[in-house]
Amino acid sequence: MAMVVDGQKGVLRRMKKVKPIVLSRPLPDDWIAPVRAKFDVHVGTFENGLNSEELAEHISRVEGVLTLLSDKVDAALLDKMPSLRVISNMAAGTDNLDLAECMARGIRVGNTPGVLTNATADIAMLLMLMITRKANLAEKDARSGGWKTWDPTGWMGMELGGKALGIVGMGKIGKAVAKRAEAFGMRIYYHNRSPLSEQEGKPNWKWLPLRECLASSDVVSLHCPLTPETTHLVNAEKLSWMKPSAFLINTSRGKVIDQNALADALRDRKIAGAGLDVTDPEPLPLDNRLFTLPNCVIYPHIGSATEDTRRKMAEMACENLIAGMNGDEMPYPVL
Ligand code: GLV
Repeated sequence: MAMVVDGQKGVLRRMKKVKPIVLSRPLPDDWIAPVRAKFDVHVGTFENGLNSEELAEHISRVEGVLTLLSDKVDAALLDKMPSLRVISNMAAGTDNLDLAECMARGIRVGNTPGVLTNATADIAMLLMLMITRKANLAEKDARSGGWKTWDPTGWMGMELGGKALGIVGMGKIGKAVAKRAEAFGMRIYYHNRSPLSEQEGKPNWKWLPLRECLASSDVVSLHCPLTPETTHLVNAEKLSWMKPSAFLINTSRGKVIDQNALADALRDRKIAGAGLDVTDPEPLPLDNRLFTLPNCVIYPHIGSATEDTRRKMAEMACENLIAGMNGDEMPYPVL
């Protein structure tokens, strides 16, 4: 409810904030204050998001939603929201949304691009260092009595300096990873649909066809969006193009890798190791065999998880939602 002054008499009365909107899952109050101040806000639960019982009575009349990347918005869910006009996705990726359906229904969509570039590039480097230096195993041993002495042949890994990094998907995050990796002394190869222009790229970043990029790299890092073309882009065949000594890093989307093929390749040492910030599905069930492999490091999708970045993402998501609901141009539009 908002307090408004009633005409000339100056009488204060309560006015219902008429436009109902939904946050799929709880977010800190100070992040969403601008939205709460303007709309009639209803919040789903962490477990069930837009399918939460708590939202059942509101969902059919809702006009705007703030979604997270864990919310799958498909035609069936959109059918339950016939009044929906605006989706604000608090994520850079939009693969959780059926954009074609949104377009067909005239629903406007916004996202939060750009702000998670550095945070995600840092996590790619962290995974790269952790898996190539066996830091996951070393840390576990230090805690569990496996550290008996300074072992001259213990926990030996691969040094990044002088090695080649192959980046698949040289967008903003790919470039940020390239810059970091260069500071570690790595050579940069990349694969994109087409080579970067002179202004976008750097003379020492070398475009290669996918096969050569995979075959020539000591570490391969994936930074492409999830699309029908990139779904299972890295399958058994592509893994067989990589060197047996090479490592695979994924901070993009889990489905870009055929995870069964990856687990086989790791088990059979067809590649040396993998560092994953994203899996298919998320969360990855505890009985997934990737968790049993010592040459695989798995994080729970923390690429953008810094205070600065998450707060900024929420700010952008609120700006998109408010603009969309007001019928204004969204500052960060997708559709
Ligand atoms: C994170 O993966 C995002 O797309 O925001």
